[in-house]
Amino acid sequence: MVSIAKDLNSRITLNDGVEMPYYGLGMYKSRSGQEGHAEEAVTLALKLGYRLLDTSEFYGNEEDVGIGIRNSGVKRGDIFVVTKVWDHGYDTCKEHFYESLKRLSLDYVDLYMIHAPIGGQNVETYRAMVELKEQGLIRSIGVSNFGVHHLEGLAESGLPTPSVCQVELHPWQQKQDIVNYCRNHRIAVMGYAPLTQGKRLNDPALVKIGETYDKSGAMVLLRWSVQHGFITIPKSSNPQRIRENTSVFDWSLRKEDMEALDKFPEWSCTWNPCLSPWVG
Ligand SMILES: NC(=O)c1ccc[n+]([C@@H]2O[C@H](COP(=O)([O-])OP(=O)(O)OC[C@H]3O[C@@H](n4cnc5c(N)ncnc54)[C@H](OP(=O)(O)O)[C@@H]3O)[C@@H](O)[C@H]2O)c1
Repeated sequence: MVSIAKDLNSRITLNDGVEMPYYGLGMYKSRSGQEGHAEEAVTLALKLGYRLLDTSEFYGNEEDVGIGIRNSGVKRGDIFVVTKVWDHGYDTCKEHFYESLKRLSLDYVDLYMIHAPIGGQNVETYRAMVELKEQGLIRSIGVSNFGVHHLEGLAESGLPTPSVCQVELHPWQQKQDIVNYCRNHRIAVMGYAPLTQGKRLNDPALVKIGETYDKSGAMVLLRWSVQHGFITIPKSSNPQRIRENTSVFDWSLRKEDMEALDKFPEWSCTWNPCLSPWVG
């Protein structure tokens, strides 16, 4: 049976023994001075009890994440910081890692991921990550936007199995082949865009389910993700919604509603590099 988060501090034990929070704050498009205040979002989230932050060099806000962490007063050891490398290559990965570390103003990262399998040098990039882990600079290694054929290709390299795979997951994008592969290989499943990037929150079938619990479509989506045992990282830079998104642990979706959500038609809110060819 899949275990699920009971509160903001619930953790999943990864295949390398590291404990990772199940629930956190997404940081895509969270930028200070543009769409909200990224540093303030991070500080507020940490003060509310969020313990997982998901960023990337691609998001352009690693500095804000670092400032937000420092301003929160929460101990570094209690926070789980995820960032991702966009460009591929052994040397490139190491160079980019040190740049991320500097922007974050941290001396280690909890989870470092290949952002997508489309840079053409997955194995060499991953090899650099393994060395960074051996040096104690990252605690766990992950991949993002990897489909089953990418995970199989990586396994053939003989390098250690990634600890986490992050892919788009919500009722319209369930990626059951990837989820099953991950669970069969002790790779933790981390869902992104759990709120469909805001694009389907008013879907009539979703809203109808929410009404029976007096919950919004957004809350139903977050609870669906939690109840499936996915690591869940809704993005918000709005204080009220950062707070609201913590209200997913004191109620649950009935079996019939989970089944109805599981039958939603397939649709993706964003890119889908999981379908790209494996190029090693
Ligand atoms: N690996 C990848 O390729 C990849 C791709 C996409 C995302 N991600 C990660 O996953 C995280 C989450 O995905 P996402 O940011 O794309 O989309 P998301 O979390 O599905 O949706 C974020 C959108 O929903 C709004 N929102 C948040 N809480 C809400 C609520 N309670 N009610 C109504 N609207 C709400 C946000 O607006 P406000 O900010 O104004 O509240 C924002 O517009 C990202 O931030 C990133 O960390 C990874």
